[in-house]
Amino acid sequence: MPSRLEPGLSRIVLRRGDITADASADAIVNAANRSLLGGGGVDGAIHRAAGPALLAECRLLGGCDTGDAKITGAGLLPVRHVIHTVGPVWRGGAHGEPGLLASCYVRSVEVGAAAGCAVLAFPAISCGVYGYPLDAAAQVSVEALATALTQHADVREARFWLFSEEAYAAFDRVLAQLGATR
Ligand code: AR6
Repeated sequence: MPSRLEPGLSRIVLRRGDITADASADAIVNAANRSLLGGGGVDGAIHRAAGPALLAECRLLGGCDTGDAKITGAGLLPVRHVIHTVGPVWRGGAHGEPGLLASCYVRSVEVGAAAGCAVLAFPAISCGVYGYPLDAAAQVSVEALATALTQHADVREARFWLFSEEAYAAFDRVLAQLGATR
């Protein structure tokens, strides 16, 4: 039986490792903070790999709301764009966290599609410093991304780069549960 999340669901791919190593995506999504001026985790790795040109561009953006996304060039990274999105800080789950996390994926796909990106690379937004529990985040993230991809046929692939075995397993379980054909 086709899933309600198709055809987006089957365009989601899982990779294990460092997202900054992705040279074939059109855009890498950054799990940033509202200042967009850099930080630790994947944000730090992306800014280190991109060099100071990325920070200079980010300074012009005036920050970003939680759940929103903004796009820049990619500095020295071998992709065309970085899409900066701001995930929610986990505060127990009753403070709008699922909707805000879903919005990160929806807005990232929207701004990526508007910039002509066909392949997007995502980290597990909010799953590090921001403390979103992995299984819950994986469920919301995969469903939101599949829904957004279904609405944007021009984005032909979205890859999750999962840094740990545990994160990979959590996202893999959700894809299997949703009946993704891979
Ligand atoms: N490639 C792929 N995934 C990574 C990488 C990498 N190079 N490095 C870390 N991860 P986090 P958040 C994973 O903390 O929770 C920053 O300081 C990591 O294991 O980067 O949204 C920002 O400036 C985890 O699974 O982002 C914000 O202040 C996932 O990426 C804050 O952290 C997200 O972890 C955002 O926190």
